[in-house]
Amino acid sequence: MSSISLIFKQFSKSVLLLACFAVWGVSAKAQGDPAKGEATFKSAGCTSCHKIDVRSTGPALGPLISSDTNDKWLTAWIHNSQALVQAGDPKAKKIFDDYAQTVMPPYPQLSDGDVADILAYVRADWKKLEEAKAKAGPVAGAAVDQGPSSVTVYILIAIVVIAFIIILVLNRIISALERLLSSKRLLPVEETLAADGSVVLADKYVFLRKILKNKKLVFFILLCGTVAMGSLTWVTLWNTNVHQGYQPVQPIKYSHELHAGVMKIECQYCHSGAFKSKNASIPSLNVCMNCHKSVKTESPEIHKIYDALGYDPGTQKYDEKKAKPIQWVRIHNLPDFAYFNHSQHTTVGGIKCQTCHGPVETMKEVYQYSPLTMKWCIQCHKRTDINIKGNGYYENMLAVHDLIKKGAKVTPAQLGGIECGKCHY
Ligand code: HEC
Ligand code: HEC
Ligand code: HEC
Ligand code: HEC
Ligand code: HEC
Ligand code: HEC
Repeated sequence: MSSISLIFKQFSKSVLLLACFAVWGVSAKAQGDPAKGEATFKSAGCTSCHKIDVRSTGPALGPLISSDTNDKWLTAWIHNSQALVQAGDPKAKKIFDDYAQTVMPPYPQLSDGDVADILAYVRADWKKLEEAKAKAGPVAGAAVDQGPSSVTVYILIAIVVIAFIIILVLNRIISALERLLSSKRLLPVEETLAADGSVVLADKYVFLRKILKNKKLVFFILLCGTVAMGSLTWVTLWNTNVHQGYQPVQPIKYSHELHAGVMKIECQYCHSGAFKSKNASIPSLNVCMNCHKSVKTESPEIHKIYDALGYDPGTQKYDEKKAKPIQWVRIHNLPDFAYFNHSQHTTVGGIKCQTCHGPVETMKEVYQYSPLTMKWCIQCHKRTDINIKGNGYYENMLAVHDLIKKGAKVTPAQLGGIECGKCHY
């Protein structure tokens, strides 16, 4: 074994190691401990005044903390914001005034490490939200996390390709050097000498044979292949049956941008079901006729409404025999085995339509804004506070808890077991 080959082996070993470390580094989470931070953030009660992405009593922390790298100042603020305000710190005074001098409570009990964890959590969470937003399109709104980001995958592929190129180039250099050395008779090269001592011309497969002989290289290529196939499968699996962005062409060019946006017709006017029942429901064309009996009567699009209802604008009469209902193409569709109830989320939970459906009032044609995956449902359930005040259900729950604590008997009926919806869809 020549010393050059040895050096090469060492080198490819380091490149391999480096590649592995890079892969590991990219897939590993950022510094700090976001998981611990999340727990502290919640247990310390920050959530009662702060959300990551939107303003509540206090500012939305995601953009604020992510753009502020002065961790020392942030730590001082969280430990005792009023101390900073009273010391005349201009930044502290400004935000205090911006928030109508609402006092944020001091947190002397949090250690610097706790605060660092919180900052790491907020930054990581915000980054996730931003990435999800970028993926969902140019519009802002509901936040989702969607498996591995495409950026990570591209970086992985790039690393693998670069490492491979380096090894190839090095292999080339080595063979060139070896040829040079052997031509100067400094190195006995077996391959180029036949048994009878005559020199065999280097055939064009030498290079390929060398690659195949180099076990490390073969292993590396196999590894790359496995990693690439694995990543591909992983990403594909994440996206099966996810129809985010689905925007079918509808039979009538009805525009939410015009009706809900420009004309400001309430969602409730057409989708009243979304507040009272499980299904939001699509309005019947009779709702459209409240206006379109007299609005835009010449438009071919409006004539589709007339045709569907068997309405004759000349005589202003309906002929049911001529009616042929419009087939709107359904956009949002959960599988049958998943139960989702609109009124529970809008009326009880107080969640706005836009949180899940995006800025519908700016859409000429509605598209599926959220992924509607189980992960999406669950992430929101982990992040959203419930409205307890004035909610009979939770008040009953508290009363029942008291009974259970006291050791009294509790029947299923007291847990809501005689409400129709518990047994019937
Ligand atoms: C009672 C409500 C309340 C609670 C609880 C609360 N905050 Fe605040 N926070 C505010 C308000 C209001 C502001 C805006 C500034 C002001 O009015 O003092 C603010 C501002 C901030 C800022 C912005 C400072 C800046 O300008 O960069 C940070 C960071 C912050 N809070 C972090 C936290 C953390 C972390 C917790 C939990 C440990 C927490 N807050 C708990 C109300 C609260
Ligand atoms: C004038 C009546 C009208 C108003 C007002 C209206 N919509 Fe609609 N909406 C419709 C009709 C008709 C459809 C079916 C055609 C389509 O998808 O564009 C629909 C479809 C939808 C869909 C897609 C349903 C599916 O197939 O999955 C969503 C989501 C939606 N509307 C949300 C809203 C929201 C949110 C608002 C309020 C900002 C609103 N709509 C206001 C009439 C209305
Ligand atoms: C509150 C009144 C109102 C209701 C309800 C209403 N529209 Fe409209 N719609 C209008 C007005 C006003 C315009 C015309 C705006 C303009 O002048 O371009 C319009 C325009 C349209 C157009 C565009 C026509 C064209 O050729 O430019 C379509 C298509 C349409 N509406 C469909 C519907 C459908 C389908 C429904 C029922 C789901 C509906 N509208 C319900 C008021 C209404
Ligand atoms: C918590 C998230 C969430 C909120 C808030 C929400 N929706 Fe939905 N919406 C969904 C999901 C999930 C579906 C699919 C339901 C299914 O397939 O069973 C859906 C379906 C729909 C549909 C299609 C018809 C149907 O009922 O399946 C319409 C129309 C609709 N939503 C309108 C609205 C309107 C209007 C609001 C606000 C009043 C609203 N949604 C609030 C999640 C939400
Ligand atoms: C934007 C946030 C959000 C999203 C997204 C969301 N939910 Fe919810 N969900 C809530 C809130 C808040 C409540 C509690 C409402 C209440 O107080 O009853 C809730 C309650 C529920 C409940 C009742 C739980 C119970 O113990 O009574 C079910 C079931 C449910 N959601 C199903 C779903 C499904 C299925 C999806 C996804 C298709 C989904 N949710 C998406 C916020 C959300
Ligand atoms: C504890 C579970 C439970 C509750 C709560 C409940 N039901 Fe039922 N219900 C059933 C079962 C099981 C059946 C089918 C057996 C039967 O027909 O007797 C049924 C059958 C029915 C039927 C007959 C359907 C048919 O096709 O014959 C109606 C109507 C009905 N329920 C309405 C209601 C209403 C309204 C409420 C609320 C006041 C309610 N149920 C509450 C369990 C329940």
